[in-house]
Amino acid sequence: MGILYNQVADQLQALIRDGVYREGERLPGVRALSRQFGVSVSTVLQAHQTLEARGYLEARERSGYFVHLPRRDMPEPVMQQHRAKPMPVSAREMTLDLCADEQKRMVPLAAAVPHPDFLPVRQIQQATLWAARRGLESLDYAFPGKIEYRRQVAQRMAALGVMVTPDDIIATNGAQEAIILALKAVTSPGDIVVVESPSFPGILQALDVVGLRVIEVPTHPSEGMSLEGLELALEQWPVKACVVVPNHSNPMGARMPDERKQQLVSMLERAGVPLIEDDIYGDVFHTGERPRPAKVFDRTGNVIYCSSFSKTISPGLRLGWMMPGKYLAEARQQKYFSNLGTASLPQLAVARFLEQGGYDRYLRSVRPRFREATERMRSAVGRSFPEGTAVSRPQGGFVLWVQLPGKTSGTEVYRRAREENINVAPGLMFSTTDKYQNCLRLNGANPWSERIEHAVARLGAIATALASES
Ligand SMILES: Cc1ncc(COP(=O)(O)O)c(C=O)c1O
Repeated sequence: MGILYNQVADQLQALIRDGVYREGERLPGVRALSRQFGVSVSTVLQAHQTLEARGYLEARERSGYFVHLPRRDMPEPVMQQHRAKPMPVSAREMTLDLCADEQKRMVPLAAAVPHPDFLPVRQIQQATLWAARRGLESLDYAFPGKIEYRRQVAQRMAALGVMVTPDDIIATNGAQEAIILALKAVTSPGDIVVVESPSFPGILQALDVVGLRVIEVPTHPSEGMSLEGLELALEQWPVKACVVVPNHSNPMGARMPDERKQQLVSMLERAGVPLIEDDIYGDVFHTGERPRPAKVFDRTGNVIYCSSFSKTISPGLRLGWMMPGKYLAEARQQKYFSNLGTASLPQLAVARFLEQGGYDRYLRSVRPRFREATERMRSAVGRSFPEGTAVSRPQGGFVLWVQLPGKTSGTEVYRRAREENINVAPGLMFSTTDKYQNCLRLNGANPWSERIEHAVARLGAIATALASES
């Protein structure tokens, strides 16, 4: 059903794009469309709502749906070429603001965190109560993780084509800890690590914590990390690890095609450089099938897979996992020495939720919602941001990467927006250099409301004013 209304919406959108239905024109009535597409009236209504969310239709009371073209179809950001050389990492302090408690009163467009409306709150509450009733089992140490949890994770990985046993898995405090443990397992302070550019700020923070130097390799908006750039970096520098988010990278939303994932894995394997794969957005694809992780192509155990349930079940459970491949012993030791294991209670609760099929049901219902919310945000950016703005077209996840025209300062937009209690993530956070100072990242995972619409319009107005000054 969910897929059907998206298909109808896609076809209507194509007809609008091709000029079959023009700006201001009324679409045929619901019954006519239901006959035309051979679907139910309610499917047509859902398709209308989807197109309204994407900014292609406008509902007029008692008159029907009218074509309303997004102001313009914005280009995607271009991949920035830059010469890679290792830099010490000092993650920006402003990233601390992203999740700080006092930010909660602001319009939350900064952190890549889904609004609770998108999370399976009631189900996880029930599963947590169930887990708590298991007494001591939920209260003891659990190193390297509760077997129930690791078994469920192993089953999910097997369904993706990655054959592992629970013994190959370590439960972690979110994906962030998994990345830090992976880095500690394969590097020493001062070593050089390759990351994508723009990069998720948490990866830069992880490098900072471990005392590493970074080479930033550009990410293409739809193909992911430039393999040509990576090859150059490997030839020139003694790289000790490479961290990549191949599925729906943050902030660009790129999904690396399978052939390139395969090339990435074999290129790093040949160079003897471990690949740290962060697959946190893999489950939240917008269309088609669940994209495969790069780990599927790993024949030698050189890929350290990291993920978590922070983007789906809840960020506050702090529950993730890693599969360190041939670096298992080092990673286990790092985990044990860091905190003796991950809390037992969330593991039991999540294992229960997975085992009962609740997670898959929830994912099926939330994916179209993430897609719609992100598209709605994209359309709103198109309506209010200055001419020359480029914005990403993510294939999964829920963040948008916005490139402002010329030298328009994203940092200044961030500052002025905060004075109006609107929180966004300035481009500066996504690199150790200043090359993204004209960019912003917006979190699209909020239920659409006047407050959000107004906030995006204000951001557009601030950016327009700054663009005319610069
Ligand atoms: C790409 C990426 N990796 C890791 C994380 C951190 O995940 P966790 O909350 O599971 O530590 C995030 C959160 O924003 C992310 O976007």
